[in-house]
Amino acid sequence: MSTAPILATQGLTRRFGGLTAVNQVELQIQSGELIGLIGPNGAGKTTLFNLLMGLIKPSSGEVYLQGQRITGFKPHQVARLGMVKTFQNVALFPDMTVLDNVLTGGLLRLSLSDARELARHNLTKVGMAHIADKKAADLTFPEKALVEMARALCTQPKVVLLDEVMAALNHAEMDQILELIRKLREEDGLTFVVIEHHMRAIMNLCERILVLSFGQLIAQGTPQEISRHPDVISAYLGTDAHAGEHA
Ligand SMILES: Nc1ncnc2c1ncn2[C@@H]1O[C@H](COP(=O)(O)OP(=O)(O)O)[C@@H](O)[C@H]1O
Ligand SMILES: [Mg+2]
Repeated sequence: MSTAPILATQGLTRRFGGLTAVNQVELQIQSGELIGLIGPNGAGKTTLFNLLMGLIKPSSGEVYLQGQRITGFKPHQVARLGMVKTFQNVALFPDMTVLDNVLTGGLLRLSLSDARELARHNLTKVGMAHIADKKAADLTFPEKALVEMARALCTQPKVVLLDEVMAALNHAEMDQILELIRKLREEDGLTFVVIEHHMRAIMNLCERILVLSFGQLIAQGTPQEISRHPDVISAYLGTDAHAGEHA
């Protein structure tokens, strides 16, 4: 059975003045895939996510979600169609409670009371129901990451873009997030694209890795293929390193 990709781009390009941050990127992501997006600092990963979400406009090229052209759509329109992104630096409203932060995700489609119910459901799902009444400013890094995930889930997405949600977490805390991502894919059929600089985490989690370098998709494949790919090794890890050995 051949199915249309849930997320695709054609020739997606974004220039900032003389710099081409995202250069002719062609994506084809199937529903339920768990994709890792890697590349050196400044490679264009966050810019690519911003283009997918409509947070910035492409210089040229197209974005398709579930076969629908969404190029130029506003972020809330993209969210309504089923794609959500978490932010590289987790951005919760510091003075609001965890529950109120999480329920904002649901207000896109739901009444306040339904959004609150969904927020409780998703806080339970991520294992954070016990901190629902805490102020967001008082959370630890791992709590923030999980609360941000719960908020994203409240938009009722099909595709979730995670931009370095595991930054500042230790290995055990990272494993908790990785377990959650696997569970959401298995139980809810969500599609994930994950930007993560922790090589071990992304190589263990993802079945397919995309590699950006200077805005271009220079390689894609299984973690095993990517860790042996000569272009990836030289672009990303230095010529004498092996991706699989890079912790
Ligand atoms: N709004 C912007 N204006 C100018 N340059 C930008 C802007 N956003 C990103 N860039 C540049 O685009 C390149 C890609 O950045 P980014 O997408 O943040 O990379 P990554 O997330 O892979 O580290 C970098 O050189 C960065 O400085
Ligand atoms: Mg980034």
